[in-house]
Amino acid sequence: MKIAISGKGGVGKTTIMALLAGELKKQGRKVLVIDADPSPHMAETLGIRDAKQVKPIADMGALLAERAGKSQGSPFYNLNPEVNDLLRDFMLEQDGIRLMILGAVQTAEGGCACPENHVLRKMLKKMLLTAEETVLLDMEAGVEHLGRGTVAGADCLLIVTIPSRSGIRTALKIKKMADDVGIPQVYFVGNLVQNQDDEKFIEQELGERPIVFFPDSKAVRQAERAEQSIVTLTEGVNDAPEQLVRILLSEG
Ligand SMILES: Nc1ncnc2c1ncn2[C@@H]1O[C@H](COP(=O)(O)OP(=O)(O)OP(=O)(O)O)[C@@H](O)[C@H]1O
Ligand SMILES: [Mg+2]
Repeated sequence: MKIAISGKGGVGKTTIMALLAGELKKQGRKVLVIDADPSPHMAETLGIRDAKQVKPIADMGALLAERAGKSQGSPFYNLNPEVNDLLRDFMLEQDGIRLMILGAVQTAEGGCACPENHVLRKMLKKMLLTAEETVLLDMEAGVEHLGRGTVAGADCLLIVTIPSRSGIRTALKIKKMADDVGIPQVYFVGNLVQNQDDEKFIEQELGERPIVFFPDSKAVRQAERAEQSIVTLTEGVNDAPEQLVRILLSEG
């Protein structure tokens, strides 16, 4: 099963993916987490040792350019680059959860580094097609990645929202795009919920009830500040990760 996540900036996408990874692992599943956010933050959230030393593949500009067969001044590049060894070499593993940090290639001018991004996209596609484990794809905020087709190949999209009008507006926009793209399963997830009024607000504004609500959790906040992993957090999130896994697996 390949699960992607989306939502407005800062609503808790990376946090929920890390909790989901922890719960799947606890239930004996193999998990591969792919961080495709241009500002990757999953390594820290998973509590990977020396997370700051880990470079996203996107930062290996020369290596990607070489794979893309890009040469100075030429508009042509290799449309079928070799990526198998990159997939192997850039995989991290800790406590049974595998992580690959893709990132995204940015150019100084903000323009498109197309050949390099082509290699990244090919790696992502290959992983989504061939991975035997449950794949969790963490992504940047907003709707751009839906337009770019980053999530094509995922069979499930979680759309996270918090109890705010702007969060819900973005969530509804993403839902519409996800339906247009044809992602088979699209679910809303509520986060940073303090009470039933918050739940009710989200449900009313979305027009449907999210499949699960994650509480506003002191334990999550403390773990983040202390740079501790939230994967093994057992208290402070009610049974939200368990509930989420139950629903995903029963319908997957
Ligand atoms: N349920 C929660 N309870 C308490 N704090 C939370 C909860 N969910 C997320 N947070 C905190 O909110 C902040 C943003 O969370 P996170 O990085 O997961 O959001 P994001 O949607 O991935 O952000 P971005 O759009 O930048 O990728 C973090 O400091 C995180 O610890
Ligand atoms: Mg994030």
